[in-house]
Amino acid sequence: MLRHLLESHNFTKDETESLLMVAENISKQPEEYRELAKYKRLATLFYESSTRTRISFETAMQKLGGDVIGFPSAEVSSVSKGESVEDTIRVIQCYADIVAMRHNKEGMARLASEYSRIPIINAGDGSNEHPSQTMLDLYTIKQRLGRLDNFVIGFCGDLKFGRTVHSLTQILNKYYSGIEFYFISPEELKMPDRFLEKNMKYTEVNDLETTIDKLDILYMTRIQQERFSSKEEYMRFNGVYVLDEDKMKHAKNNMAVLHPFPRVNEITLGVDKDPRAAYFDQVQNGLYVRMALIMALLGIKDPISGQFILN
Ligand code: CP
Repeated sequence: MLRHLLESHNFTKDETESLLMVAENISKQPEEYRELAKYKRLATLFYESSTRTRISFETAMQKLGGDVIGFPSAEVSSVSKGESVEDTIRVIQCYADIVAMRHNKEGMARLASEYSRIPIINAGDGSNEHPSQTMLDLYTIKQRLGRLDNFVIGFCGDLKFGRTVHSLTQILNKYYSGIEFYFISPEELKMPDRFLEKNMKYTEVNDLETTIDKLDILYMTRIQQERFSSKEEYMRFNGVYVLDEDKMKHAKNNMAVLHPFPRVNEITLGVDKDPRAAYFDQVQNGLYVRMALIMALLGIKDPISGQFILN
């Protein structure tokens, strides 16, 4: 059956955990996975800029023995001549077996999936969702805490436009129990109502300094300049939250700091050497998780467990 990953909860809880388990197997025995996607081709269609997501998807496919095609920006494709997403996907599916697509407009990965006979991975659609980031965030949280239930997580910064926050919040609330959320943001950048579910245990605050001591996970985010209507509007919020070594003194000894990156100025370089900084682990884990994700959607069995990832 054709499956896509458009929103973080598109895989069941069992499927999600199976994906994380395979990612861990990959991290321990990468040589077992070297040729699993030989003769398969990934297309990365990036209408919006990226460093980590595009390059890690491409590296993931290459490490599975497959090929990569695609475009890194709309300007270098026929999109710049006015070609639609619908036509682009109908063309690309003639050449590729799976697509990772990023677009600056919400819902574009879903639209692509409606015209596609190959799996579509939403690699970020505007300020909506970024589900493959969620998978690597879950992996990193589990690596740090040893569990995905019963912890306190604080999301700090631009929660209005922060698609990684939207995706991770959804899956934690749907699949795991005992999660307490702190949403730390200016009033104007609050978590949108559509992502606040009735059964969620959450507190909205605007101060990081007085909240940090309560957290097991601190998920920092960038204020997203590209989502504001003007530079002046962006500058009102730029630098409003800065995690530095002083603030880290108030945090628990085993708190983990996550950030999807890119970072601008919201975590000082001094925090990087703190063992609680987990953001470069996220980048590394993204490779394993995206290898597992490509396997999942192409229906490739895990050679270690002998299992398929999706049911
Ligand atoms: N985390 C993330 O989406 O980074 P990029 O924008 O560099 O892909």
